[in-house]
Amino acid sequence: MQRKRLAVFISGRGSNMEAILRATQDDSYPAEIAIVISDNEDAVGLETAVDADIAAFAFERKDYASKADHEAAIIETIDENNIDLICLAGYMRLLSGDFTQRYANTLINIHPSLLPKHKGLDTHERAIKAGDKIHGCTVHYVSEEMDGGEIIAQAEVPVLNDDTPDTLAARVLVEEHKLYPSTIAKLCAD
Ligand code: GAR
Repeated sequence: MQRKRLAVFISGRGSNMEAILRATQDDSYPAEIAIVISDNEDAVGLETAVDADIAAFAFERKDYASKADHEAAIIETIDENNIDLICLAGYMRLLSGDFTQRYANTLINIHPSLLPKHKGLDTHERAIKAGDKIHGCTVHYVSEEMDGGEIIAQAEVPVLNDDTPDTLAARVLVEEHKLYPSTIAKLCAD
């Protein structure tokens, strides 16, 4: 089996990246993390990647004159590394239409809500305020519209009466760590 080569994009903690990494440690998993890219050189997840002997790159926006130049540097790294699938995992920067069109069908994201509900930030707080009884996470293709691309898979959790944004986030995160690796495996097996 030729494993598919993943690029995982992170901005911070990187727990979804770690969940993918754990999954790839099974020889039958159809993908491996080839590179990790961050827009934040202090992202904790970069250290995790380096410790796992994965090539890790930080491209800080402030080091580039324009968004186009920033993305051009990222594109060069992706294309040099023969990447099959780009997985955004807590990458907190919007990608341009040029970028999303270039990698259409090979660019996915995990978002902490049941899209199309609660696009954007503070999803757990908004789910509680909206009185939602069910919340969850979504893996979707990335299009130019924020959190708007085609939905690939979702996982649900209950919202409990005494939930705070933090307790709800923790319950959703457990599902994210299962949903993202399993969805990537299905896409890479096809
Ligand atoms: C995750 O909950 C992910 O779904 C969310 O950020 C967190 C990153 O955690 N992503 C977004 O909100 C994207 N809009 P992690 O760095 O530990 O994987």
